Amino acid sequence: MFAEDVTEKRSLERQLQVAQKMEAVGRLSGGIAHDFNNLLGVIIGYSQVLKKRLEVETPLREHAEEIEKAGQRAASLTRQLLAFSRQQVLAPAVLNLNALLTDMEKMVSRLIGEDIELGLRLDPGIGRVKADLSQIEQVVMNLVVNVRDASPHGGKRVIGTENAVLDQEYTRRHPGSRVGSYVMLSVIDNGTGMNAETLAHLFEPFFTTKESGKGTGLGLATVYGVVKQSGGYVGVDSEPGRGSCFRVYLPQIKEALSNDAAGAPLPATFRGTETVLLVEDADALRKLAQALLEENGYRVLAAESGVEALKIAEKEQERIHLLLTDVIMPGMNGRALAERLAPQHKGLRVLYMSGYTHTAIAEHAVLESGTYLLQKPFTEEALLQKVCEVLCADAPGKSASKQAPVLAGSDAR
Ligand SMILES: Nc1ncnc2c1ncn2[C@@H]1O[C@H](COP(=O)(O)OP(=O)(O)OP(=O)(O)O)[C@@H](O)[C@H]1O
Ligand SMILES: [Mg+2]
Repeated sequence: MFAEDVTEKRSLERQLQVAQKMEAVGRLSGGIAHDFNNLLGVIIGYSQVLKKRLEVETPLREHAEEIEKAGQRAASLTRQLLAFSRQQVLAPAVLNLNALLTDMEKMVSRLIGEDIELGLRLDPGIGRVKADLSQIEQVVMNLVVNVRDASPHGGKRVIGTENAVLDQEYTRRHPGSRVGSYVMLSVIDNGTGMNAETLAHLFEPFFTTKESGKGTGLGLATVYGVVKQSGGYVGVDSEPGRGSCFRVYLPQIKEALSNDAAGAPLPATFRGTETVLLVEDADALRKLAQALLEENGYRVLAAESGVEALKIAEKEQERIHLLLTDVIMPGMNGRALAERLAPQHKGLRVLYMSGYTHTAIAEHAVLESGTYLLQKPFTEEALLQKVCEVLCADAPGKSASKQAPVLAGSDAR
């Protein structure tokens, strides 16, 4: 027993050291990458200026082109370093990994070549995650390319998804991981596998076992950075000669799918006809929303506070179909306003706007079950899609499947 305890303690200490080293390397490479990025901007910019000034046929122009190309290559390495050090600006969206993998399937099969058969094993019941779509695609690509490189004799490889819970037992053994519910994306191969030495350095930038010129050693460093920045964890199991399994854990979230992923896009000829009472205390945002809605056919009554909205609603002779209101406003908040309006305006639909995350709102119990929410900042598309969705849900028989509540019920809790 005692001997086992000591072995486990040593192994944990070693893992902790690795985690700390990764932090330090991350800071270092992040700093370098930043400075390099600026320098490369200058190099690329001026080589383009030179190119334009030089006659097409001169050898000097070719030289300028080569400088530019080298600059671009260096910039792409720098981007990967920034990803590793988690200093990239991510544009997170709510994603379903199954949809993402299905979309990528064709490209991935082409990437790995004909000798390798690729199987998708997707659990249809997986939860949603919040991450940057193009970065997660990059993660999948990097893992898949490694599988190709580790499978010189071809074979069958599997990419899978499933829900997973990381408990205390797991997190204790895997420093850097956190207790919680995740969606796990696994990439499994039975290729060459890895020895302990490789495993110990796996995620370090520039660590590669490939001959020089073949690999940069930035593939897994990028995977590590992106997943960490998204609040997740990467686990690896491998044995020499028996293959490898990479498991990427991304935190499950309760939010509804992002607008671009949910529902069909509105037709280009779409015109709204309804009347919208728009309440938003930020001037610029109110004017923007009003302009976007009016451009698309809606009639808009705009108010900058709950009190003003009540006055407008009282005077209004025609039916108001939708209340589009900010949640948090000075004076009367959006929910109180909706409650005041409800008795006089039968069938009034409500769409809340908020810059807060769903969890913040849920925690403050501002909204209740069956509420629709539009995340700020929003695009024109997102606004119209959501408005249309909420209004459609009003009319019986019209696309009932779109009536999923955002915050409560089985969907969110
Ligand atoms: N699926 C795998 N099977 C076996 N070894 C792997 C696997 N994935 C990664 N490795 C090992 O980890 C090393 C680092 O991988 P990483 O993706 O970071 O860099 P690389 O593939 O060598 O170069 P790059 O991805 O930048 O072209 C690889 O050189 C290889 O030794
Ligand atoms: Mg690689």
